[in-house]
Formats: sequence, C-alpha cells, structure tokens
Amino acid sequence: MDSVQTVVIFALIAAKCVRAPPPNFVLLFADDLGYGDLGCFGHPSSPTPNLDQLAANGLRFTDFYVTSPVCSPSRAALLTGRYQTRSGIYPGVLYPGSKGGLPLNETTIAEVLKSEGYSTAIIGKWHLGVGLNGTYLPTRQGFDNYLGIPYSHDQGPCENLTCFPPDIKCFGRCDVGVVTVPLYFNETIKQQPADFLTLEKTYINFASQFIHDAVHNKQPFFLYYPSHHTHYPQYAGEEYAGKSLRGPFGDAVMEFDGTVGKILQTLVKTGVINNTLVFFTADNGPELMRRSRGGNAGLMKCGKGTTYEGGMREPAIAYWPGFIKPGVTHALSSSLDILPTFAKLAGASLPDVQLDGVEMTNILFSLGPSERQAMFYYPSSPSKKYGVFAVRWGKYKAHFYTQGASHSMTTPDQDCSLLALKYHDPPLLFDLEADPSENYNLNGSDWDPVLQKINDLRVQFEASMVFGESEIGKGGDPALEPCCSPECSPKPKCCHCTSEL
Ligand SMILES: *[C@@H]1O[C@H](CO)[C@@H](O)[C@H](O)[C@H]1NC(C)=O
Ligand SMILES: *[C@@H]1O[C@H](CO)[C@@H](O)[C@H](O)[C@H]1NC(C)=O
Ligand SMILES: *[C@@H]1O[C@H](CO)[C@@H](O)[C@H](O)[C@H]1NC(C)=O
Ligand SMILES: *[C@@H]1O[C@H](CO)[C@@H](O)[C@H](O)[C@H]1NC(C)=O
Ligand SMILES: *[C@@H]1O[C@H](CO)[C@@H](O)[C@H](O)[C@H]1NC(C)=O
Repeated sequence: MDSVQTVVIFALIAAKCVRAPPPNFVLLFADDLGYGDLGCFGHPSSPTPNLDQLAANGLRFTDFYVTSPVCSPSRAALLTGRYQTRSGIYPGVLYPGSKGGLPLNETTIAEVLKSEGYSTAIIGKWHLGVGLNGTYLPTRQGFDNYLGIPYSHDQGPCENLTCFPPDIKCFGRCDVGVVTVPLYFNETIKQQPADFLTLEKTYINFASQFIHDAVHNKQPFFLYYPSHHTHYPQYAGEEYAGKSLRGPFGDAVMEFDGTVGKILQTLVKTGVINNTLVFFTADNGPELMRRSRGGNAGLMKCGKGTTYEGGMREPAIAYWPGFIKPGVTHALSSSLDILPTFAKLAGASLPDVQLDGVEMTNILFSLGPSERQAMFYYPSSPSKKYGVFAVRWGKYKAHFYTQGASHSMTTPDQDCSLLALKYHDPPLLFDLEADPSENYNLNGSDWDPVLQKINDLRVQFEASMVFGESEIGKGGDPALEPCCSPECSPKPKCCHCTSEL
C-alpha cells in the first residue's frame, strides 16, 4: 500500500469513527436595525467593532432577507423556517395583553436542537406572545432558560426608562395605560419595570453562566440573543451612554455590539469558539420616523413597515473560525434558511411541516450556489386578498403593490410615507444588482419574459400558501397583561416589583 492510499484510508476511518461533536449555535438578532447601520455595512460613525470583527473574519451577506417589515412576524419566521402567514403571526404585531401567540404546535429552532440534546437559552426580546399564565413564553417553545422582556420595550409606559446619568430622560414616548415592561426569568417576573440601565450587564452574566454550564456539562448549546437594541426608544447603560459619535442611536448600537463582544470572549475563554457558529442579523428595517434616533437603511429604499428593500433586506454575518472562510456573499438568502441550516449541521431531522426555508451550507462553506430561488415580500399586515406585495427572483424584483408606512415617514422620498395602497399593472421591475436603491423602473416589452417568470413564481407560491388562523386577530384582554403580583389592585399601576438579579 503506498502512502497516498494509507492517508486516504486513515482519512476515511477518521471520518467514520471520530465524528466531530455537533457545533454550538449563537444567534444574534438586532431590532429595527437597517442595512446601513453597522460599520462593516458602510456606516461612517457607527461604533460596532465587534460585529465588524465578525464580518472581517466571517462571511458577510449582502442579499439577506427577513420575511416581514415588522417584529413579531419576522421573529416567527426566523424561529420556524416558515412564512408568518402559516403560523398566524399577522396582521401587525403582538401586544402585552394579546390572547394569541406563536402556536405551540409550531416547531422552533430550539425544539429542533433540543431533540439532539442541545441546551437552549434565550436572552432578550421574545415578541411571540405571553398569553394566559405564560402559555406562549419561550419556555413553552423549546427554550430551557429565558431571561428577558417578552415584547417591545415601548409597549409600556417608559417614564422609568432613563438614560445614564439616571436623571436624564431618554428620547421619546411609549404606550401608556398598560403595565410597565416586565423582566422575566423563565416564567416568573423578576422586575417590573425592568431596569434598563443594568439590563445589558444582567444579560451578559446570564449568557456567560449559560455557556459555562453547557461547556462544563459537555452539552452542545443554542443561545438566541434577540436584543432590544436598536428599537425605539433608545437607551444605553453607564458604559455606553454618550460615548458614540452618532448620538442616542449610536450609543444603543454600541451597547449591543459590546454584548456581542462579551459573548465572543466567553466562547474563547470556555474553549468553544472554534466549534460555534455565530450568526447575526436583524428583524426588519429601520424606524425612519424617529429621524436621527431611528436606524439607517443605507442605500436601500425606505425602511420599517414597507416592502421596499429598506424594510426587509438586512445585514447578516456568519462566523465560524476554521470552517467559514472570511469573505462576502451575494447569494440570495433569508432568515427562513437558518432553521434548516442549523438542523443540518446538528444532524437533527426537520420538522414534518411545510418549510419555506432551504439549508444554506452551500453558501457558508462555498460549496455551490444558493438553493434559494426567490424571496416573497409580505407587508406588515398580509391578507389572502392581496397576497405578496413583491417578489425577488435572481437579481430582479417586481412590485405588484407598494405602500409607504408611518414607521418610514420623515424621509424626503415620498414613496416611503404614501399610505395609500398602489397596485401596479404591469408591476414595477428593478434590477437590484445594477440598481439596489430601486430607482429605475425597467419598463417596456423587453422585460415581459422576466415579469412572466416572476408572476409564475408568485402564482405557484400563493397556491401553496395556507394561511393559519390569525393569532393577532384574536385580540387582547387587559387582564392578560403580565403583572408581577397578579392579585393586586388597582392595575396596571400596582404591578410593580423590584428585585436584585
Ligand atoms: C396547529 O394546529 C392548528 C389548529 O389545529 C392547525 O390548523 C395547524 O395546521 C397546526 N400547525 C401545525 C404546524 O401543525
Ligand atoms: C392561571 O393561573 C392562576 C393563578 O395561578 C390560576 O388560578 C388559574 O387556574 C390558571 N389558569 C389556567 C387556565 O391554567
Ligand atoms: C429556568 O429553567 C431551567 C430549566 O428548567 C432551569 O435549569 C433554570 O435554573 C431556570 N432558571 C431560573 C432562573 O429559574
Ligand atoms: C481556534 O483555532 C485557532 C486557529 O486554529 C487557534 O489559534 C486557537 O487557539 C483556537 N482556539 C481555541 C479556543 O481552541
Ligand atoms: C418608462 O419609464 C420612464 C421613466 O420613469 C417614463 O418616462 C416612461 O413614460 C415609461 N414608459 C412606459 C411605457 O411606462
């Protein structure tokens, strides 16, 4: 036997017997953060050194999409690998007193990985329901551990939301007449209102403990960190308040980036950095109505609430030293694809449901083209009547309907704030590679074959779409708003608890 054969045979034996341990997963998810908000995506004054490091040493996605221009539906699709219309997380978003939530028969990434023995945790913003006695909390959807606020932090009076130093009020107003925002530990409220000045430190400690425990127990783990940053209103603790060149938004994104850095440090310290896939993206485009205190979509058109690129194209980064080669990919990909990808890498089987995600190991390991052919753009409040508003196929995007959004007002582009629904026949057509800003409609008969193909894809997709019963349509009940002392009165004022964490 010559030496080449020997090497080949040993390699085969190694591949068969010494199966590499399954990788850990850290999923970082920012809130209302636009395509142009990170240093590594071109923002000139955003202080994001840790995310920039991930991008420099990982794979940066230029053509990555979420499924909705608002929070709850985008999160439902991320965690299930299915468009939100299937799970019923439409129209709009969930509220503190909502009766519905992500149906328990939906299978989340956490449940997929738990079946393979993973330890699972979520820190931060859930926004997929609370319900009666915590029916819809993440602990009911495959997460062993939860620390966080189960919805947006503006969904409660924010008079207690102060910036550092504590006597300075943060910019903006929040919802009044509801309970102040609760901080949950698993299914128990530990603070109400949550203390935002120390919240990020609390999250960092929790994440660190979780990683240490899993490594100590020799268990693979999945950590999901959906941050409150950079959703309105902006805040930051002592370490970051007033520190960025970009004002309150910059401080908030800087605090988020700092937490990312701390999580990475823990991965290094515990010796698992080379066996962990870290994936970063955000739920939807920037809330432009907050002006300079909202995010920035960079060269993408409009922002949150719209099906223009600024609403649904997001920065994304995949990082796994030694496995993912540093670089940039233009492959069409989506938050829908994360569940199938993690499942494949963990050796887990896929849930027995109609998935909309496709696995993207081809893209991560430069093995071949994207398996994703098209992306369908649902508005904030999808309906069977209108279906998808736009379709991307290859480099082309056709808009069948367009509509501005109050979330995207205040920019000079009138299309972002025009609230009337506009039907386009023929559809508006853009070449997103030549014209990512959707400025120049390709009209004329030369484009008929492209429009025909896109319309065929749309018809085929709509035919396969089964709308689940609307969970958000079930409405709300003030009695369901989370309260740390359920029997107290008068509500919501009496729901007030402080505890050291
Ligand atoms: C969950 O249950 C509902 C109500 O029975 C059903 O309509 C839906 O199809 C189920 N979803 C899944 C993913 O099984
Ligand atoms: C919800 O919790 C309350 C208080 O713990 C209890 O009295 C009630 O029976 C629970 N309801 C349901 C439907 O489990
Ligand atoms: C949350 O639940 C998990 C799993 O049951 C448990 O290990 C953990 O200690 C709980 N955490 C808290 C703060 O109760
Ligand atoms: C990870 O891999 C790099 C490159 O091979 C190596 O320098 C580093 O020590 C490894 N880190 C850990 C914690 O194993
Ligand atoms: C095509 O677009 C150009 C520029 O917007 C416009 O001037 C022209 O009228 C359009 N032609 C048709 C056939 O719509």
